[in-house]
Amino acid sequence: MKAMGASGAVMAVRVLSVVVLLAVVSTVGAEAVVASGLLTTDYYARSCPRLSSIVKEEVQKAVKVEKRMAASLVRLHFHDCFVHGCDGSILLDDTATFIGEKTAAANNNSARGFEVIDGIKAKLEEACPKTVSCADILALASRDSAVEVGLSERYPVFVGRLDSLNASRDEANLRLPSPRANYSELKKNFEFQGLNEVDLIALSGAHTIGKVRCQIVRLFLNDTDTNAEFRSNLAKECPAGGDDFKLQNLDLKTPEKFDNNYFKNLRRGEGIIRSDQTLWSTPGINQAIVWDFARNQKTFFRQFAFSTIKMGNIRPPAGTKGEIRENCRAVNSAPLVASE
Ligand code: HEM
Ligand SMILES: *[C@@H]1O[C@H](CO)[C@@H](O)[C@H](O)[C@H]1NC(C)=O
Ligand SMILES: *[C@@H]1O[C@H](CO)[C@@H](O)[C@H](O)[C@H]1NC(C)=O
Ligand SMILES: *[C@@H]1O[C@H](CO)[C@@H](O)[C@H](O)[C@H]1NC(C)=O
Ligand SMILES: *[C@@H]1O[C@H](CO)[C@@H](O)[C@H](O)[C@H]1NC(C)=O
Repeated sequence: MKAMGASGAVMAVRVLSVVVLLAVVSTVGAEAVVASGLLTTDYYARSCPRLSSIVKEEVQKAVKVEKRMAASLVRLHFHDCFVHGCDGSILLDDTATFIGEKTAAANNNSARGFEVIDGIKAKLEEACPKTVSCADILALASRDSAVEVGLSERYPVFVGRLDSLNASRDEANLRLPSPRANYSELKKNFEFQGLNEVDLIALSGAHTIGKVRCQIVRLFLNDTDTNAEFRSNLAKECPAGGDDFKLQNLDLKTPEKFDNNYFKNLRRGEGIIRSDQTLWSTPGINQAIVWDFARNQKTFFRQFAFSTIKMGNIRPPAGTKGEIRENCRAVNSAPLVASE
């Protein structure tokens, strides 16, 4: 929820008292998780003072081993937030009672970085057990990843999210944008999340790092809004009938650096995914925004930071129960529930 009003606070109290009652009745020593509803930058200041340094250190280690991991972790936070709010739902493995998000179209054979999140969680369970949500780890790791590879705007990360008790592949398929989407579909998809065109374009700038499979690249080799020479070079890299899993850099010029080159590429007709090129090729205010980001990296960086904070505020529907997971891949065996 965006800001907890009086009714939200009442609801949280009611839900918490139910939890306390259940705990007494079943004599399970479950502590209720108190969620204020509002995200803040100092939520864990006392309960986990080493949180930022642990996450930063683990992200730095992972990116040193593999540069691409920075991109993968930035993407995980996005895919988490667009499905039922930023609630760590993308991290849940399938269970007997639900099929989770990992095999949704946009994630299957594509979303990665789960072991890095597990590693961070393990360090945090040592330092401050049962305290930090997996959803918050994703938000922090996303920022630290982008900064590690060039984003010079170390924006504040707002925390205090709860982890979901459930996940749904169908919902992920419905909410994660398709690479085939045209501009108006993308705009609608982001509007559903409370994000506008500036957010859409700034956040798409994350494609200045990371990789895409030939399977996806091939879908757009006939698109005429991209540059013909660029297309024919890509066609050589991703020939029909070739390896679907071969990877291409999303930004061919500075693939490992978080910079504004993505927008310069779009202006040259060198957007690999249709959803990228359309941000420049579709007539409208979007073109002025792309122009602005291409010309001024600082403007892009500031907007990327702002839009990421906004995206990080996407919350599960009010009243949704959550917990602090001990293992990011599974709900706790005795759920410690509170209400969003
Ligand atoms: C606007 C709609 C978007 C669409 C349709 C889209 C689609 C895609 C696709 C198809 C890939 C390649 C996946 C693969 O081949 O396995 C990709 C990669 C990536 N996306 Fe997006 N994306 C969008 C927005 C975003 C946003 C908002 C972010 C983050 C803020 C983001 C971050 C990334 C990153 C960093 C990668 C590379 C990941 C890696 O190398 O592991 N994307 N995206
Ligand atoms: C996910 O990918 C695997 C391996 O390519 C494939 O066998 C499976 O059918 C895919 N799952 C879904 C739901 O598309
Ligand atoms: C989890 O989500 C699935 C699919 O949306 C739903 O059928 C199921 O009832 C949910 N389970 C819980 C415990 O909320
Ligand atoms: C965008 O795609 C949707 C769905 O395929 C379609 O209905 C719409 O006409 C398209 N819009 C434009 C401007 O091409
Ligand atoms: C691109 O055009 C060629 C030649 O017309 C055709 O064979 C191919 O199937 C098209 N590819 C896609 C992805 O539409």
